[in-house]
Amino acid sequence: MQTANIRVSENQERTSLGLRDWIVEAIQRHVAKTDRPYSIALSGGSTPRQLYEMLGQLPVGTIDWQRVRLLWGDERNVPLDGSQSNYRMVREALLEHIDIPAENVWHVPDPGGDPAVAANAYAKRLSDLPLGPNQVPLIDLVLLGIGDDVHTASLFPHTKALDENDLLVCENWVEKLNCWRITMTYKLLNEADDVVFLICGASKQAALKAIWHGPQDAQAFPAQAIHPNQGRFWFMVDEDAIGETSLPAQAYTQRV
Ligand code: 6PG
Repeated sequence: MQTANIRVSENQERTSLGLRDWIVEAIQRHVAKTDRPYSIALSGGSTPRQLYEMLGQLPVGTIDWQRVRLLWGDERNVPLDGSQSNYRMVREALLEHIDIPAENVWHVPDPGGDPAVAANAYAKRLSDLPLGPNQVPLIDLVLLGIGDDVHTASLFPHTKALDENDLLVCENWVEKLNCWRITMTYKLLNEADDVVFLICGASKQAALKAIWHGPQDAQAFPAQAIHPNQGRFWFMVDEDAIGETSLPAQAYTQRV
């Protein structure tokens, strides 16, 4: 595994607080040196909700949301107000509590219909991002979680999206869930300047162990194929997610 920065905290709350403060500092550094908005690809599911709530509870002015662009690393193919929608989760946890211009909120356009149409429309929107050194749109920060099956974003084991090397975003049929997902691909995710896995809870122990020490098999363990091309790589985890797993020898580890 590529050399990663690992930050270990006592529990999910302290891990989320540490990542909140890390994001605040990253945005403040960014806006001090460029007019370009700071782009964040948000992960879905339940783990990041507390982080998003913490960001939404910051004193007004801590983050200049006019200078931040929010994206979604993946989305369920349901309407934006659907109970399973990642957009809706972020809207409730964060968007309703901050002053961010609508034009800075780049959710997947019109999910819930033809997933290929939504994926193509999202890829088109993301093509307006500045290009990185590999002529791929560059996202400043990609936030990711992992599932118990070691999926990340909506890159699930043994699904078609794992082999997508050209598109930035694609639709992905997930047999085990019997549903369509829309997901950023490795090509886009790995171009980011910072890629951060937020992983908390004992239920993630096996998945985290598979990423750090498992046999290399990205079809079975899709999160293994996440490694920034030129950006920085982070794992922000709590003690429960680590359990008895040894830390990767080549990583830079801090207990915070
Ligand atoms: C999603 C996420 C997905 C998530 C993992 C972990 O749409 O569900 O983007 O990749 O990060 O499934 O989810 P939990 O945090 O709920 O365990």
